[in-house]
Amino acid sequence: MRLEFCGLGKQFGEQQALRDVTLTIPEFQSLAIIGPSGGGKTTLLRIIAGLEIQEKGYLCINGQRLEVDEEALLAHRRTIGTVFQAYNLFPHLTALENVVLPLVKVHGFSEREARDTAGALFARFQLAGHAHRRPAELSGGQQQRVAIVRAIAIKPRFLLFDEPTSALDPEMTAEVLDFIAELRGEGRDLIIVTHNMGFAREVSDHCLFIAAGEVQEAGQSSDLFRKPHNPLLVNFLAKVLRY
Ligand SMILES: Nc1ncnc2c1ncn2[C@@H]1O[C@H](COP(=O)(O)OP(=O)(O)O)[C@@H](O)[C@H]1O
Ligand SMILES: [Mg+2]
Repeated sequence: MRLEFCGLGKQFGEQQALRDVTLTIPEFQSLAIIGPSGGGKTTLLRIIAGLEIQEKGYLCINGQRLEVDEEALLAHRRTIGTVFQAYNLFPHLTALENVVLPLVKVHGFSEREARDTAGALFARFQLAGHAHRRPAELSGGQQQRVAIVRAIAIKPRFLLFDEPTSALDPEMTAEVLDFIAELRGEGRDLIIVTHNMGFAREVSDHCLFIAAGEVQEAGQSSDLFRKPHNPLLVNFLAKVLRY
């Protein structure tokens, strides 16, 4: 997919979350967004998802400008699979119902179609044995895999992940990142905000470094990690790669 940002600005009260982000990201399949906390990563991801509206500028996805009227945004949101930090499943529903319900209520599937779709995905991704458990009966990694299955069930144009492993221990982090890498291997397009530099470097072909509301550096992941230029990025990598 391709992305183009043109003078994007977003403010929350006094806080300038994004300032004049102007950038074209050429064809990529997996884009990693990295950077310090509070830098604007989530805000950018939410604007791409159509969940937040910028005050200034615009963005194009695959050459098509994202219109910001409510109707267009609503339609846009339905075409994207989003996965945020862990534990966003409905606690009172089983894993399977967590996938079935939005298909029926939001995406207009019949009950039967929704169950068939969800059942097939659970089988394919080794979750069939967990289908009838509630989130509290699943590990964090399993819960997050269910959330990812929920995102791909709608056959999204692309997937957005915001720190999908930040609430998980290392073993479960690997389980979830392996799953995301598998989806990338299937040819799905994805954008991921992550603190996992190994994943950003190895699995993503493109990388953005955002700090202080600005894209400080962008490029092929291999180049960006091998030869970072921006002093903020050099400093950031030194810090996160120290331990
Ligand atoms: N809904 C909000 N209300 C007020 N301030 C916000 C809101 N969302 C983000 N911010 C502020 O915008 C800045 C960027 O936040 P965010 O995009 O969440 O950064 P990151 O994901 O990189 O940690 C931060 O200073 C944050 O406090
Ligand atoms: Mg964030």
